Amino acid sequence: MKRVAIFASGSGSNAENIANYFKGSDAVEISLILANNPEAYVLERAKKLGIESVVVTGKEFRAADKVLEILKERNIDFIVLAGFLLLVPAKLIEAYPGKIVNIHPALLPKHGGKGMYGDHVHEAVVAAGDTESGITIHLIDERYDCGTTFFQATCPVLPTDTPHDVAEKVHALEYEHFPRVIEEIIATLDK
Ligand code: GRF
Repeated sequence: MKRVAIFASGSGSNAENIANYFKGSDAVEISLILANNPEAYVLERAKKLGIESVVVTGKEFRAADKVLEILKERNIDFIVLAGFLLLVPAKLIEAYPGKIVNIHPALLPKHGGKGMYGDHVHEAVVAAGDTESGITIHLIDERYDCGTTFFQATCPVLPTDTPHDVAEKVHALEYEHFPRVIEEIIATLDK
């Protein structure tokens, strides 16, 4: 059984979708949800799902020691970033090499990097006049939105689409693919 921690900063609809997908799985358990904001709605979702949650400050997260201790105490094998806005420090990446996956709500390398999160991404896609957007699921390294890409899926962007319309299409792709891709990556860990 692989024990997974999900890191999230906001609403956590992906976290909930992933947790529901793995309910009853004998390969993967969502063991912990970590948030960097005590007001994040993901904490309510964790409570309803019966999953332990912890909150750390941005400072604690950057220093990494407390987070590493929390993860070690709970024997966490793998980390999923689902709408998590802080840059993951090198210490954490070194402790989980090839074992931290992120989802970005656009087709990297387009529309990535610092400040490109949430609605900013969809606004940039519409402003650029792109005819498609989508999701990128990738392992992380020490830069925002870089690291090996595992999976991309696309959706059309119509000339009449607002950023909100694009966000809806991208969310649908996230819910459809992210849990399954996580499962696939975790399945390769022991090989
Ligand atoms: C998602 O679109 C994710 O790709 C992005 O932030 C959003 C988080 O949504 N990085 P939620 O918190 O999972 O509802």
